[in-house]
Amino acid sequence: MNDNKLPNRASVHAVHSLDRVVFTVPDLQKAVDYFSVFGLDVKQRKTQVDLHTLNHTHCWASIHQGGDKKKLQYMVFAAYPEDMKAIVERIAKSSYSHGTPHPLGSNEGFWVVHPEGFYIQVIEAKKSSPQEKSAPSITPRAPVGKGNAPTRSSIKQVRPRRLSHALLFSDKVPESVAFFTDILGLRVTDRSDDFIVFMHGIHGSDHHMIAFVKSDGPGLHHLSWDVAQLDDVGLGMEQMLQAGYTKGWGVGRHVLGSNYFFYSRDPWGSFSEFSYDIDFVPGDHDWDTGNYPMNDSFYVWGPQVPEEFVINYEVGNKTL
Ligand SMILES: [Fe+2]
Repeated sequence: MNDNKLPNRASVHAVHSLDRVVFTVPDLQKAVDYFSVFGLDVKQRKTQVDLHTLNHTHCWASIHQGGDKKKLQYMVFAAYPEDMKAIVERIAKSSYSHGTPHPLGSNEGFWVVHPEGFYIQVIEAKKSSPQEKSAPSITPRAPVGKGNAPTRSSIKQVRPRRLSHALLFSDKVPESVAFFTDILGLRVTDRSDDFIVFMHGIHGSDHHMIAFVKSDGPGLHHLSWDVAQLDDVGLGMEQMLQAGYTKGWGVGRHVLGSNYFFYSRDPWGSFSEFSYDIDFVPGDHDWDTGNYPMNDSFYVWGPQVPEEFVINYEVGNKTL
């Protein structure tokens, strides 16, 4: 058994991490520019761009060029070796289409197609989701009698620490929840009926490693990136605004997940989130799942939600 896997989960077989998200965009250079400004380590490979975070070897997302709009292609989930067999057996026994790799993907692990048509790859890999709640970085306060805020000119670029989660648009939220529960072993953390549902990993994960929001089809609404302090959420907003990425939502604080957020709108109408202080579900803890009314679950405080925040540009003929 893996050292950091807790004994009371030994008989439950589930993925431990959202290992990678893979999507296509019409113009790869726009992705390089945008995610570099966002503070990620953007590595240009032969046919794709890989998104890393500072001082972290893990590749959290890959972007390929293709199509005339941004499109989610596939997601990779990782499992411990001792969980793989049971997960693969569940996939093989299921009615979901499986076994054929995505054209952009590798032969590693096992493939299954989500009810809404995008692919999921399950591989055996190291746990990239956090093992414990991410610690804040505390900036020492100036002594009383001196100014505490930094000057604008002394500000350094905000560099997210890791991927926290992905929020997907979905026209089939109950089917999505069933898929991720029955096949990958994720659990519902909290929900607002079938309008939005948050799911976590049972081996220790953020409040959500994946979530679904009701829409008119599948799509990638946002990837969320963990930052080290509340100030970094505001500074992250500032660095996007200063670079000309002027649309977004925040700064605010969510109810479900509890994180402070700023969502920056990317060049394709979806979002990247600076997230600080999201709730954590330890590997030995059964979260008390709640169902919250929409108006009491979304955000504690923050600006009014812009209308464009919930437009799924991946389906239909909507234009930016
Ligand atoms: Fe989020």
